[in-house]
Amino acid sequence: MRTEVAIIGAGPAGLLLSHLLSLEGIDSVVLETRTREYVEARIRAGILESSTVELLDAVGLGDRLREEGDEHRGIYLRWPGERHHLDFVDLAGRSVWVYGQTEVTKDLGRAREEAGQEFYYGVSDTAVHDLTTDRPYVTFRSADGEDVRLDADVIAGCDGSFGPSRGAVPDAVKRTWERTYPYSWLGILADVAPSTDELIYAWHPNGFALHSMRSETVSRLYLQVAPGEDIAEWPDDRIWDELAVRLGHGQDGWELTPGPITDKSVLPMRSYVMEPMRYGRLFLAGDAAHIVPPTGAKGLNLAVADVALLAPALTAMLRKNNTALADAYSDTALRRVWRCTHFSWWMTTMLHTSGDPFDARLQLSQLRWVAGSEAGATGLAENYAGLPIGM
Ligand code: APR
Ligand code: PHB
Repeated sequence: MRTEVAIIGAGPAGLLLSHLLSLEGIDSVVLETRTREYVEARIRAGILESSTVELLDAVGLGDRLREEGDEHRGIYLRWPGERHHLDFVDLAGRSVWVYGQTEVTKDLGRAREEAGQEFYYGVSDTAVHDLTTDRPYVTFRSADGEDVRLDADVIAGCDGSFGPSRGAVPDAVKRTWERTYPYSWLGILADVAPSTDELIYAWHPNGFALHSMRSETVSRLYLQVAPGEDIAEWPDDRIWDELAVRLGHGQDGWELTPGPITDKSVLPMRSYVMEPMRYGRLFLAGDAAHIVPPTGAKGLNLAVADVALLAPALTAMLRKNNTALADAYSDTALRRVWRCTHFSWWMTTMLHTSGDPFDARLQLSQLRWVAGSEAGATGLAENYAGLPIGM
């Protein structure tokens, strides 16, 4: 088979890239290990930066987001005895939207299907070849067991942290940075109306807590737990009791309403960056090149920002034989990657307890500054709401 861009991975990065390329009349084939149902059911984050929403709007993918999503002006920061609202619109002129990554992936999948996108779900043994030639190709076994060779002009590695693309960049060429955090998140989905109008990020001596949501009837909440915590240790009542303590139930009239938990899982926390994000005719985007801890709500938005840079770069390369943007892709994308990696690390280390009393004092001092100083609050607002793509 032959196509112009072979895209490995049907997560948000791969699907959005195939969409942006198709708007430029560029063919692509999307390969995915999992089934479409699995990919679209995966529970992931749910905060969209304003630049992500603007891009989805601009490419005809904003309708359901605007109908069913929820625009938020900001977030609450709280710690024992204190609760502060940071208004991103006042501070940085930008809002954020609550709309699950699952819904974004469904919208993308539907749009690609309607556009007749060629998909191969359920593939295995995906491998990339001849990346330093102008005739790279991908080999894989299709869901019905057929060995396939897909020739392309370019390969886009949108295959997350466990796909083949990352490993295809030779050790002699790549550099990696990694930081693992001494805690994890216990995340729950609950069929109960959110007890807050906007997200609450809470520092507490027992550990961090976050109150997020998916809709007017579904709440999403997180608790800091030990790395690899056994979920069996956390019966539903214990989870709600601990959330109530850390989120300040009963303080200044605020109450947390518990409800039936429909899903719970423990998520690891780490930062990872791989440079360069290009090797010959292989271009990496999203989790294939970088992982951020979820505290800054950057994972999905960074994947979107990568492909928003990559699509015009590949269009210029394949349509005008102009490789300037493609040659600059890795450096340009990495500037935002490191900004978001720093912000996610900063939010994580400011809000998660380490057990060190000196750290706790430093964290509380930083929280008071961020919440009490316009400069501090604006810094958080600018990064959280998202800097313009291609900054
Ligand atoms: N062949 C084909 N597909 C593969 C392979 C392979 N060998 N290995 C992995 N994949 C697929 C995965 O099954 C997954 O569906 O690549 C896809 C990568 O998608 P994501 O992990 O969602 O990554 P990305 O599209 O970069 O989106 C990043 O997802 O994980 C969240 O927090 C992260 O929000 C961020 C966003
Ligand atoms: C979520 O809604 O799942 C969510 C929101 C904000 C975060 C992380 C996760 O920082």
